[in-house]
Amino acid sequence: MDTFAGKSVLITGASEGIGRALALELAAPAVSLTLTARNAERLEDAASACRARGAAVETVVMDVAVRADCERAVQRALERFGALDVLVNNAGITMWARFEAVSDFSVYQRLLAVNYLGAVYMTAAALPHLKHARGLIVAVASIAGITGVPERTGYAASKHAMVGFFESLRIELDGSGVEVTVVAPDFVVSEIHRRATGPDGRPLGATPMQETRIMTAPECARLIARAMARRQRILITSRRGRFVRWARLIVPRVVDAAAARAIRERR
Ligand SMILES: NC(=O)c1ccc[n+]([C@@H]2O[C@H](COP(=O)([O-])OP(=O)(O)OC[C@H]3O[C@@H](n4cnc5c(N)ncnc54)[C@H](OP(=O)(O)O)[C@@H]3O)[C@@H](O)[C@H]2O)c1
Repeated sequence: MDTFAGKSVLITGASEGIGRALALELAAPAVSLTLTARNAERLEDAASACRARGAAVETVVMDVAVRADCERAVQRALERFGALDVLVNNAGITMWARFEAVSDFSVYQRLLAVNYLGAVYMTAAALPHLKHARGLIVAVASIAGITGVPERTGYAASKHAMVGFFESLRIELDGSGVEVTVVAPDFVVSEIHRRATGPDGRPLGATPMQETRIMTAPECARLIARAMARRQRILITSRRGRFVRWARLIVPRVVDAAAARAIRERR
């Protein structure tokens, strides 16, 4: 996609999954990408693939839960490319455990620190520059940010926080030229499910999802890139997700049952 030619785009969590696929989707000659994640090797691999498509790429190894890292990432994008037009808050982690099975709540703190505060810190650092560019903020939330999902209490809370933050910020930014696109993906094939924290506080190690029955990361990235180009207010990537948004006002029990079924059937 060359809609972003001449633009400087920063993507957090760009080494794998949706973030990597989005970087590749946007990568083209004259597109400037700043890609961030914690694992340097995987990040460099994503960067090389984007360079092969003609994009100029800067990488920043960082943790979004650390405010100084977020400031450093934005600074690096500015030093290298002279501007920041788009910030994609994508880095995220998840959990897979019923609330009553959890005894160590540090995972709830980490979910908020990465999924919510990470996006807050990145946005705070980027906002003056995005205003200058009349740019765009993308918040990759989740359907779990617009309705409840079992076995995801801490994750859903972090994504609801994210959606609440960005929907409020959008109002504050009215007239500034900066727009906010909230993305609510349904299940996507990525590393997040394998890494999800289980009831014992450790990663599951293997994905429990039926991967052949859920969207691929490149498919999700194409939808996000299109929503970004349109500066769309919200993108919900599945029909059932779009249904949920309205149906929960009218038939909330049907929506709850659908969320329980999605987790039970792992798709
Ligand atoms: N996959 C789904 O089913 C799904 C559905 C709805 C929403 N989402 C959302 O989509 C976003 C991307 O998830 P994904 O599925 O693509 O996951 P993924 O494959 O696990 O990728 C997550 C990315 O975030 C990075 N990351 C994780 N923690 C980080 C931290 N503390 N600081 C900096 N980077 C960090 C990871 O790299 P490092 O580990 O190297 O840092 C990786 O690049 C998340 O916000 C997720 O909640 C995913």
